Amino acid sequence: MLEIENLSLEVDGRPVLKGLDLRIEKGECHVLLGPNGSGKTSLLLGILGFPRYRVTGGRIIFKGEDITDLKTAERVKLGMGLAFQNPPVIRGIRLGDMVSLCRGDKSGEITEETRDLAKRMHFTEEFLERDVNAGFSGGEIKRSEILQLMAQDPDFVMLDEPDSGVDIENMELVGEMIGSLLHRRELPSRRTASGLIITHLATITNYVDVDWAHVMLGGRIACSGKPDRIIGEVMEGGYEKCVRECQMS
Ligand SMILES: Nc1ncnc2c1ncn2[C@@H]1O[C@H](COP(=O)(O)OP(=O)(O)OP(=O)(O)O)[C@@H](O)[C@H]1O
Ligand SMILES: [Mg+2]
Repeated sequence: MLEIENLSLEVDGRPVLKGLDLRIEKGECHVLLGPNGSGKTSLLLGILGFPRYRVTGGRIIFKGEDITDLKTAERVKLGMGLAFQNPPVIRGIRLGDMVSLCRGDKSGEITEETRDLAKRMHFTEEFLERDVNAGFSGGEIKRSEILQLMAQDPDFVMLDEPDSGVDIENMELVGEMIGSLLHRRELPSRRTASGLIITHLATITNYVDVDWAHVMLGGRIACSGKPDRIIGEVMEGGYEKCVRECQMS
């Protein structure tokens, strides 16, 4: 589904990624851990082709196609979706309109399908009338991002800290919806969506089963392995220790 080869990337002229390799197969879900400022968000925005995140080396292959030079809109059309870490407030666009737009409905109406999706995400009608993220609480913003992804239903789902600031009851809901976006209830051979989830405390892995975990350090994927082992080592001894253990084994 996604192959990143030797990717170097700068953000406003500052090198952030330095030869990063990552491969995600169809149907797999990966988690990415790493210290603040290590470039996790930059990686996702680079995968999506945001202009400020300039590729200076390497390439990104998606569904067999080299997309390194494609515009963001083209990448989204190919099936990429992202739930942002800190999405902006969008004045003048109601959440309901945004969800309808994400579903590909250009009627400008808040449709029955949009209402149904919102209900699944435990949003009342009132939220659909509010401007996107305007005055939303931290947890509501995370749910709003996932609602928009559910409407878009991408084949490759990127989630930037979907578990930060979410209370324990909503975490279950968020986990269930991410699981449904990623077809986690299907047998592995029947899953056609893949995911990459950034998390600090790995809370989301209590609710969504994941296949691989990676630690990002020094602008690269410094260590990869089975989630239980990688997450356990990071929680116990920190990122650098986990990377050292990886290099020794
Ligand atoms: N627009 C920008 N201009 C300058 N520097 C930037 C810009 N965006 C990101 N950076 C820098 O790039 C580095 C990587 O940032 P990034 O947001 O990717 O980190 P992160 O791993 O997601 O961190 P966190 O865990 O805190 O979310 C940081 O040092 C950040 O300050
Ligand atoms: Mg980040």
